[in-house]
Amino acid sequence: MIDKFTTDKTAELVIEGQKYSLPIIEGSEGEKAIDIRNLRQDTGYITLDKGYMNTGSCTSGITYLDGAKGILSYRGYSIEDLAENCSFVEVAYLLLHGHLPTDDEYQHFSYLLGRFALIHEDMIHFFDHFPPNAAPMAILSSMVNSLSNFYPEMTENPLEDIDIMATRLISKVRTIAAFTYKKSMGSPLVYPRHDLSYCANFLNMMFDSPVKPYAINDDVVRALNKILILHADHEQNCSTSTVRLVGSARVNLYASISAGISALWGPLHGGANQAVVEMLEDIYESDGDYQNYINRAKDPSDPFRLVGFGHRVYKSHDPRSRIIKAACDEVLDTLKVSDPLLDIAKELEEVTLNDEFFIERNLYPNVDFYSGIIYRAIGIPSNMFTVMFALGRLPGWIAQWKEMWDDPDWRIGRPRQIYIGPKRRPLTPKEERKKRESDT
Ligand code: CMC
Repeated sequence: MIDKFTTDKTAELVIEGQKYSLPIIEGSEGEKAIDIRNLRQDTGYITLDKGYMNTGSCTSGITYLDGAKGILSYRGYSIEDLAENCSFVEVAYLLLHGHLPTDDEYQHFSYLLGRFALIHEDMIHFFDHFPPNAAPMAILSSMVNSLSNFYPEMTENPLEDIDIMATRLISKVRTIAAFTYKKSMGSPLVYPRHDLSYCANFLNMMFDSPVKPYAINDDVVRALNKILILHADHEQNCSTSTVRLVGSARVNLYASISAGISALWGPLHGGANQAVVEMLEDIYESDGDYQNYINRAKDPSDPFRLVGFGHRVYKSHDPRSRIIKAACDEVLDTLKVSDPLLDIAKELEEVTLNDEFFIERNLYPNVDFYSGIIYRAIGIPSNMFTVMFALGRLPGWIAQWKEMWDDPDWRIGRPRQIYIGPKRRPLTPKEERKKRESDT
């Protein structure tokens, strides 16, 4: 099978004395892969890679990351440049289209985001029937799946107008997120406004109230833009792979994204940002005694992990975490907020950077370590942190779903397995079964 990026090099594999030649694929930044698509057909063997530690599931032109060097870029632009110079809406456009928008493209994209901001009024009743302490990620995932019933036309030719499809979702998820918060507080809903930018609109829906109008602060809007940009894509992570896998069955975009939201909810993935702040709060309440947490994290008999540390791919540092840490200082300084959790977080980072256990295992703060402290400073409660991650990741999910949908080499995602259950055996008729089948 020939791929666009197949080189003239090959890998030689010898199985039981028989030699096989496998094509080598090379990406634009020099990443190399052995193409094993025909391996089973040619040899009868599959590759086994639990947790996909070393398995590429696709070729992609969206995000590049080098875990050894701590490099992350979207469509060729470094995350540092994008976070410093662009708005979240520009980055969303970049992820979807592969180039930064011109003025006209930006105006049109922003206009669509405004136009699609409302959700169907009937959907608002859904919020009333969740229990009062319902998890916001469960609400978000259900509501996004429900959008497929309210906007079924999207399922027919989803790529015909990607801007409409993407802006509808990006805009409505923002509204759903803010309404989820308002409902959880028992507060009146605040509707989106056409005159506000994407992030300002979100903050206004979250914090404006009929009795206390919200004053939009440009520094907060800037910080939110930055944090959403840092979360906007991260190649084939758990939730993105989920979106691609579910979408590969040719299900509609809403259902695919809803599945991605569920994957993101996990504490080892996006759910870590909430868990980090809860851990820092616990440390604060125990008079800042973080040593106990470090000891527990190092104890092989204790399943506890220091949340916000470690990453499957980054093995030197997570570039997003450095930007967020600096943004944390800026935001707290501008808002004149002093948060003892930031001091604890910095101490914890300092201690772990000099601890053999963490050094040997390449465990550094990840994107989730400092993000919660910014959210707290802005006034976002901890049970909404992972929703914020979802809001940021949405353009990436959509771009990856679109790329998968558009790929001429597309196949339904269907991993293989090695069966390790009982060998094929005869069924004992019911009346003869004296004891459990497994005992036989
Ligand atoms: N605290 C203590 N030890 C850890 C941690 C941690 N946070 N993370 C990994 N380790 C140890 C682990 O016990 C193992 O040690 P040993 O070799 O002695 O058995 C070694 O490091 C390798 O761990 P792993 O589980 O094989 O690594 P992984 O690549 O499968 O897992 C991870 C990556 C992110 C799930 C993991 O580092 C972790 O659980 N971190 C805490 C949760 C977290 O912060 N998640 C957010 C990830 S970044 C954003 C996102 O994806 O959403």
